[in-house]
Amino acid sequence: MKNNLVLSAIMAFTILFQVSCTKKIPTDLTKTSFIPKPVSVVATGETFELTRSTVVYYQEGVEGLQQTAQYLTVELNRIGGITPTVNSTAEAPASGIYLSVGDHGQELGEEGYVLNIGKKVINISANRVAGCFFGIQTLLQTMPAGQTTALPIEIATGTIRDFPEFGYRGAMLDVARHFFSVQDVKRFIDFLAAYKMNVLHLHLSDDQGWRIEIKSWPKLTEIGGSTEVGGGEGGFYTQEQYTEIVNYALERNITIIPEIDMPGHTNAALASYAELNCNGKATELYTGIEVGFSTLCTRKEITYQFVDDVVREISAITPGPYFHIGGDESLVTPLDDYVYFINRVQDIVVKYGKKVIGWDEIAHATLVDGATVQFWADVNNTKMAVGKGAKVIMSPAKKAYLDMKYDSTTHLGLHWAGYIEVDTAYIWDPASYVAGITKENILGIESPLWSETVTNIDEIEYMAFPRLPGYAEIGWTAPDARNWDEYKQRLAQHGKRFEAMNIDFYRSPLVPWEQ
Ligand code: ACM
Repeated sequence: MKNNLVLSAIMAFTILFQVSCTKKIPTDLTKTSFIPKPVSVVATGETFELTRSTVVYYQEGVEGLQQTAQYLTVELNRIGGITPTVNSTAEAPASGIYLSVGDHGQELGEEGYVLNIGKKVINISANRVAGCFFGIQTLLQTMPAGQTTALPIEIATGTIRDFPEFGYRGAMLDVARHFFSVQDVKRFIDFLAAYKMNVLHLHLSDDQGWRIEIKSWPKLTEIGGSTEVGGGEGGFYTQEQYTEIVNYALERNITIIPEIDMPGHTNAALASYAELNCNGKATELYTGIEVGFSTLCTRKEITYQFVDDVVREISAITPGPYFHIGGDESLVTPLDDYVYFINRVQDIVVKYGKKVIGWDEIAHATLVDGATVQFWADVNNTKMAVGKGAKVIMSPAKKAYLDMKYDSTTHLGLHWAGYIEVDTAYIWDPASYVAGITKENILGIESPLWSETVTNIDEIEYMAFPRLPGYAEIGWTAPDARNWDEYKQRLAQHGKRFEAMNIDFYRSPLVPWEQ
């Protein structure tokens, strides 16, 4: 009798356990918490089952599509431990996942896509391969956040039609104040890719460090790369390592924009080569965080030979269209000299086939055709640049700087531009932030992460998350489709994704994270 009771109890518990653990089969695609929010999501009420035998197909004869299909299989392997077969095909398949490129009209543009999830087949189609890549990112957000052994992976059916608000959706990493390894930069690139960002701006030189090998000026890295803020050992990327970063980004539809900041923010170069200083004497290496004390000697010809070599070598290994010349906070460069310098440097950038980007101060110069200013501080500079025909990247420090503290208790970061809680970071619109600067003037948005206080990848993650997905959404989703109260619910769902990616993130009390 006693044994029977125990047995019944065990059976009852087992049944209860099974019932409570039965997975809810997803059937409503509109319930998925996508970030960035897509233009339209229509549910069809059924379920696709991803199994060990699901095949990934790509349309034959489309350059780059095979690589995109391979990327998807690597992600599916990470999530479900499966290794799908990848096949090219001339015909749309009746089952599996199919990537194709065709004419989907102007509205989808270069980066839009249609993701159609049927019961038997998932179609991702776009005007360009880039669109297929972004469609894959959306598909991945319908799947479990982390690794699962619970196959099949069930995905609600429906159609998503989607395209971005802005063509430039970037982040910046300052690898000069503190140096970060190739592996760290790749991890940061993965974060950008997951949220459909398409630019990584690398701040490669500053007073505290020179981080990219220049073969014709080797002391830049030997001396200038040998330390960092706080006196650590610093480091630099060889040209081969930089190329590795560029290629890794390219596989994820991300353009690397190299920045060499000049004529100010140049102490690392001035400590490496005496001849770049007006007095002919090399400066001491610098490991503090003050700004605005250094300048290249703008009236010496050797300076322009130096800039020419640097721009030439970096441009040769940078497939993207842009070269960022910095130009901010040159507080000890007389304005005449500053303008003369920026004008000459722009011509050098154009000579090597790149388009100029500079911080908003470069508006004081005569801007070359196709120049872009990055608004960070000065509205008047930015308006002046637009008046001279320049485009704008919106990075207002008060809203978009990832190195600003969340609040007064944040242990990392600075707060000279204010505290930027997750709502403050999200609630603004690039196209109406500065009166008189409209969407037509704006390439897009970029969130810079300066590294005065940020020393390792965990600290990068803590400052970037959860603000980064919000910046991604500002760049992708139209302003009338964005709303903080709705967004914070979606963001809360992404907490599980951050955990699955081992991201050390700030659990803002403003976001209803699931426990
Ligand atoms: C900057 O924050 N100095 C561009």
